[in-house]
Amino acid sequence: MSLLFINASQVVTCAGPPRGRRGAEMNDAQIMKNAAVAVEGERIAAVGPVNELEAMVPGATRIDCRGCVILPGLVDSHTHAVFGRPRYEEQEMRAAGDGYMDIAARGGGIHASVRDVRARDEEDLFLLARARLLNIASHGTTTVEVKSGYGLTTEDELKLLRVVARLSNALPLRLIPTWLGAHEIPFEYRSSDTGHAGYMELLLREMLPAVAKAGLARFADVFCEPGVFTVAETRLILDMAREAGLALKLHADELEPSGGAELAAEIGATSADHLAAISSGGISALVASGTVATLLPGTLLFLGRARQAPARALIDSGVAVALATDFNPGTSPTMNFPLILTLGVSQLGMSVAEVLIASTVNGAAALDLAGDIGQLSPGFSADLALFEADDARELPYWYGDRRCRGSWVRGKPCHPCELRVS
Ligand code: NIG
Ligand code: FE
Repeated sequence: MSLLFINASQVVTCAGPPRGRRGAEMNDAQIMKNAAVAVEGERIAAVGPVNELEAMVPGATRIDCRGCVILPGLVDSHTHAVFGRPRYEEQEMRAAGDGYMDIAARGGGIHASVRDVRARDEEDLFLLARARLLNIASHGTTTVEVKSGYGLTTEDELKLLRVVARLSNALPLRLIPTWLGAHEIPFEYRSSDTGHAGYMELLLREMLPAVAKAGLARFADVFCEPGVFTVAETRLILDMAREAGLALKLHADELEPSGGAELAAEIGATSADHLAAISSGGISALVASGTVATLLPGTLLFLGRARQAPARALIDSGVAVALATDFNPGTSPTMNFPLILTLGVSQLGMSVAEVLIASTVNGAAALDLAGDIGQLSPGFSADLALFEADDARELPYWYGDRRCRGSWVRGKPCHPCELRVS
């Protein structure tokens, strides 16, 4: 089946090298006017003048994109999208002065979601996550990384990862599963002196081997933060995860500068995420590495924190920066990725071209997928999204709005198309 997208106001191709873009490269999203996009089967065939493309895909279904901008489908490389109940009560607690870690110390925060997830069956979690992922797709996201991390027993972590696998078969979205068994020290292990070591033992001897054997995760991730997992523990877990065949991610330097970014660079992690408290040494380490810095401005906004990650310093020193939602019930309950692009411009000081690259090509690089998705170039997967706009700069401008009018993954409909098709 072939498709021909015609009459778009602009086509944002993000065309260029199939890897994370750094420094000035991030400021060039390769925006074309008077261009059409031809799709043959699962792949982009060509981008260019409509009369040239018509001959390449005779008989193609034509999609009239008048009043819309075409983009590579957005790549959300950091979410915790499978969970049970929302945690709205914590928002008021924080407003009244409680800290994120204080709430966790009392058994709330991640612990509350863990208790809730353990009590639910797979079907229940599947139905809740399916509705949330369809909402995510309605905003133009076509790839979603989904972490476990609310089970924290071998069986409950496997349950979450099985849910992601089922969702991946049931939905048109492209889902990338990540094992985050090291999301928190479970409450039952926190009460004793040896609890911490006991949970490390469980992670390394039982849970990781079981996850690797089940083949249910592509990445391993660790919440590397003082009071949760130390840099030394994170190194141990991720070294073993790599041996087990998983690629690596870290929640690093979110609340305090603890050396997480330096570790990510040293062990060749695909991405280091959060980084609001990254040190200058951490920035230098990332510059010298191939690790993508994934920034999550929605999280800090929702937590009411004044300090955002130093996006400008990261980009200007030459780090490849990605943006993502961090969608989760505690710190970032948004399914709206374009809103994160708004925050990229308004809170992080990024240009529109930079936020477009950060949410497409560099999101793909944060998932080791930059050779297949994230740009509209011949041979790349036909993952694309249409947004109602005359100019790409409108995407971060109409903040909080839903402008997506249709999306495709591997050339197949993802979010239903609202435009004229003939
Ligand atoms: O990325 N920081 C750790 N993990 C999540 C929050 C998870 C939660 O609060 O449920 C994050 O912000
Ligand atoms: Fe997270």
